[in-house]
Amino acid sequence: MSSYSDKPKQRVIVLGAGVIGLTTALVLQRSGKYQVLIVSEFKVNPPSPSSNSTTIDGFEFHDPTTVPALEMASPYSGSHWRSLATNEDTDLQKKELFTYQTFMNLTGSDPSAPVKKIDGLDLYFRKNTNSNWHYKHVQQFRLLSPDELPKGIKEGASYKTLVINSPKYMVWLYDQYINAGGFFKQARVSRLRDLEDFESQFYNDGRNSSSYTSDLHIINCSALGSGKLTDVNDRLMHPVRGQVVLVYAPQVSRTVTRIGGKFMRYVIPRGDGTVILGGTHLAYDYNEKPDDETTAEILRETLELTPELVEHTSTMDPEARVAELQKKVLAVKVGFRPGRIGGVRLEHDKFYGKSGNLIKVIHNYGHNGFGIQSSWGYANAVYSMLQKSKL
Ligand SMILES: *[C@@H]1O[C@H](CO)[C@@H](O)[C@H](O)[C@H]1NC(C)=O
Ligand SMILES: *[C@@H]1O[C@H](CO)[C@@H](O)[C@H](O)[C@H]1NC(C)=O
Ligand SMILES: *[C@@H]1O[C@H](CO)[C@@H](O)[C@H](O)[C@H]1NC(C)=O
Ligand SMILES: *[C@@H]1O[C@H](CO)[C@@H](O)[C@H](O)[C@H]1NC(C)=O
Repeated sequence: MSSYSDKPKQRVIVLGAGVIGLTTALVLQRSGKYQVLIVSEFKVNPPSPSSNSTTIDGFEFHDPTTVPALEMASPYSGSHWRSLATNEDTDLQKKELFTYQTFMNLTGSDPSAPVKKIDGLDLYFRKNTNSNWHYKHVQQFRLLSPDELPKGIKEGASYKTLVINSPKYMVWLYDQYINAGGFFKQARVSRLRDLEDFESQFYNDGRNSSSYTSDLHIINCSALGSGKLTDVNDRLMHPVRGQVVLVYAPQVSRTVTRIGGKFMRYVIPRGDGTVILGGTHLAYDYNEKPDDETTAEILRETLELTPELVEHTSTMDPEARVAELQKKVLAVKVGFRPGRIGGVRLEHDKFYGKSGNLIKVIHNYGHNGFGIQSSWGYANAVYSMLQKSKL
């Protein structure tokens, strides 16, 4: 009697190993219906103990974000769950909410996942902004009382949200995927047509054509990294540059977002003593170098929002407190979110491979600054699309 897993599986190549590629690959692989191969030039690895480190207060920080920022945004992100969907964008809302619930479930069921449930504060420069769609869905929502508001803030809300240590989470996702039987090939692809060259990867460990159905599907999660594909180039794609400061402040136990002003400001404890302070959003800015003035602004403004970033300094003047925070800086990072005019591209497509065979494609890219917090929603959407797709 053949078990379900002996049935021929459909082959799927996922292009890209950022958070969208990894999550999509994991969902498909876990379904038992597909054999997935990720092809990606880059992958986030755990930092080697011999890598450069920065030590603050005895905490040794090894930088895991070695993937070039212009190639992959995911390991450079904060990251926390705070919806970026407008009240009208019900499609993105569904993806984000599904991801919120998946992460919430994960915190209860898998302590190995670098995802933590904590208090989140949203702070507003103006009043009457509490009508965000997600406030109806998040756990333990309440409006802040006036005495809880930092200087200059007119309104605030508190609720349970999630923080994700993104470089560690990438490593965790990858491990989950490999444990589920997923294949991975580290390779640079300069034309999509060349993906057919990787079909041989499906025939390792004694597998042959009877292991698979005849069709091959490609899921395009290549985001900004695809800028180098020579046969296709989505001109709507562009980088949205973000600069963040990583500090050591294990006492910070909540995530804070300030909405309004020149840039959204955020404070994201990552669960290991490190805290991301951000950020900026500059479309079409390719500057890979951190800007010192921006770093100073981020430190000053996030400290106003989260005084507990530095302890035992309540008698100091503001400049001296910023100087104390400066001493806790582990790294300053620049990342490039995969922005796309018109939003995410999630749709079917097809092209002819070198062999003349028709290859079906599902595009899943352009998740800008909401990739991690919508990742499970988009991964499951791809799964549904594949299920319905008939060759
Ligand atoms: C360590 O830092 C030096 C100087 O910044 C750099 O040249 C080198 O590539 C780094 N090594 C690693 C393993 O990151
Ligand atoms: C979360 O867990 C609950 C209870 O087991 C389940 O009903 C729900 O479908 C799960 N949600 C997601 C998005 O996984
Ligand atoms: C393919 O593999 C299966 C099981 O491993 C084996 O029974 C079958 O004979 C193989 N078919 C071919 C054409 O090699
Ligand atoms: C794949 O994605 C990139 C953008 O990330 C795009 O340029 C390209 O057109 C996509 N389509 C195909 C068929 O690969």
